[in-house]
Amino acid sequence: MTPSAQRQWVVAERPVGRPLKDSDFQLADAPVIAPRDGEVLVQTQVLSFDPAQKSWMENAANYRAPVQIGGVMPGSGGGVVVASAHPDFAAGERVVGDLGWREYPTIAGGHLQRVPSGIAVEAALSVLWGTGRTAYLALMKVGKPVAGDTLVISGAAGATGSLVGQIGKLAGCRVIGIAGGPEKCAWLTDELGFDAAIDYRSEKVRARLRELCPGGVDIFFDNVGGEILNDVLARLAVGSRVVICGGISRYNFDPRSPEMPEGPRNYFNVVFTGATIQGFLMPHYERDFPEADSRLVGWLREGRIKARPDVLQGFESAPVALRRLFEGKNRGKQLLQLDH
Ligand SMILES: NC(=O)c1ccc[n+]([C@@H]2O[C@H](COP(=O)([O-])OP(=O)(O)OC[C@H]3O[C@@H](n4cnc5c(N)ncnc54)[C@H](OP(=O)(O)O)[C@@H]3O)[C@@H](O)[C@H]2O)c1
Repeated sequence: MTPSAQRQWVVAERPVGRPLKDSDFQLADAPVIAPRDGEVLVQTQVLSFDPAQKSWMENAANYRAPVQIGGVMPGSGGGVVVASAHPDFAAGERVVGDLGWREYPTIAGGHLQRVPSGIAVEAALSVLWGTGRTAYLALMKVGKPVAGDTLVISGAAGATGSLVGQIGKLAGCRVIGIAGGPEKCAWLTDELGFDAAIDYRSEKVRARLRELCPGGVDIFFDNVGGEILNDVLARLAVGSRVVICGGISRYNFDPRSPEMPEGPRNYFNVVFTGATIQGFLMPHYERDFPEADSRLVGWLREGRIKARPDVLQGFESAPVALRRLFEGKNRGKQLLQLDH
């Protein structure tokens, strides 16, 4: 039976220029709202976490509606339809979408998508939708891999990076991941099939790149920015492509403050190599979503890519789950299962 009340997390403070804190979030009670025309009531089963959620709280992202203080914390997730007033959805169907941190969101059916049959909601949130579309489209449309290319990925043991590496292997690349800690590096090479990994916390990235990429780096897929970007720019191959997907090393700085790190010193190597540096933002590639979805679903069903989510338990741990991304605690996609 659907309860009449639910819990939801709301935004209490904007974490501009600093790491996230417990007091940035507040747990509140709210009524469960019956769906009106075109709406669907969902029971949230899994929440999915992205570093960009911090910038949404700061209202620093220009591609989404502003988040209000006291408003529901935005975020994607998956669950089961409880009641539907939308012709395309029926009770019992499994869906994903921008559910927000709520136990029973009521949302427009047009904002939901069905989970493909035979695929767990956790796997769908790990390697399809936002993460999968980003990894596939940023690599294929901006990185433009060619068999034999050397592909280097920062943030390689995270959700996006670990998938980019797997797709890069399918495209015939030699794949080198940069990640924090020996356990994450071993996971990349032993379980996900990366050719090599560099532990940026204990190794000198630039020296290791010299050893591992004697012919230079053909594609750099950057999730981190800062010193790592600087080190890889020094090793670019002629005609290489640098994909700027993220810059998590910058996300705890106020962009207007003098503490914000300067841009990369080695950028001038772009001139000597004729390299291209291009930014990627997933919503700009909407027309390519069907291609990404069909390739990813196919590879997942064939077992050619692996979904290895990192799953926490309990709705009350949502802020902890988001903070893990900035503390490097997650391996693969950070998810949270609700115990209903
Ligand atoms: N452009 C787009 O459309 C788009 C879409 C989705 C995601 N993104 C971006 O892609 C990147 C990865 O996102 P994700 O969802 O896949 O997250 P994720 O990689 O699963 O999690 C973040 C990882 O970043 C690393 N990290 C955290 N702070 C760091 C720091 N100061 N320096 C270096 N590494 C740090 C940690 O790994 P280590 O332990 O290895 O440090 C952590 O596990 C983010 O920058 C995100 O904003 C962009």
